[in-house]
Amino acid sequence: MTNRTPIIAGNWKMHNTLAESADLITALTKAGNKNHVEIIVAPSYTSLAKVAELAKGSEIQIAAQDVHWEDKGAFTSAVSPVQAKDAGAALTLIGHSERRSVFGDTDEILNKKVAAALRHGIKVIFCVGETLEEREAGKTLEVIESQLKNGLKDFTEEQLNGIIIAYEPVWAIGTGKTATPEQAQEVHANVRAYLAKAYSPAFAEATRILYGGSVKDSNVDEIMAKPDVDGALVGGQSLIADKFARIINFNK
Ligand code: PGA
Repeated sequence: MTNRTPIIAGNWKMHNTLAESADLITALTKAGNKNHVEIIVAPSYTSLAKVAELAKGSEIQIAAQDVHWEDKGAFTSAVSPVQAKDAGAALTLIGHSERRSVFGDTDEILNKKVAAALRHGIKVIFCVGETLEEREAGKTLEVIESQLKNGLKDFTEEQLNGIIIAYEPVWAIGTGKTATPEQAQEVHANVRAYLAKAYSPAFAEATRILYGGSVKDSNVDEIMAKPDVDGALVGGQSLIADKFARIINFNK
């Protein structure tokens, strides 16, 4: 057993109107938290301020789904870390596979986004994950290591203190296909070994590594039972209050 506090995070992606977001966060504030996990939700930008306001006084923390690398400027449609923080985000996802594959965020861009978030004291949930093709070619660990190395390039262990890593195999996101707990554990153990090598064993031991990709009320217990899985990043089921509540209150 480790003493890392587990994290259950919900990524609402491009879902929910203001009213739907308000209903969902209000329900979640009543969800209970028997395992004393850290609970995080990442609404879309339009709902961020409202959700942050409604979550005030609860233990739910609010994350942005992404931030731009500049503080302000002529970047139509983008949201800066200053704006995300101002709206109530204490954390941000960076490098979600949909940002990488749909919007073309490269390791270099992600590295600048991490810098921007850290500069403003926004905690980073840095996402990594391999495609099905890469897994089938036996390249999973190599791909993850390269995403970590390049995305987090030039930061010291002190700067990265508190960073959260999310392992999300691209083939398991939104597909209903979940990595087996053994597959998740294998990658998580390797991520931790990489962090020990690149930074220090103490840093690796303290860093929370979340699993994401079709986490459900029906599989969360077995995934959370793995020693190097410190939490879950949940998409689809985080939009359904009672499902997400069950995930938060996973059985040990
Ligand atoms: P999913 O999404 O739970 O719907 O597979 C996970 C994620 O993309 O964070």
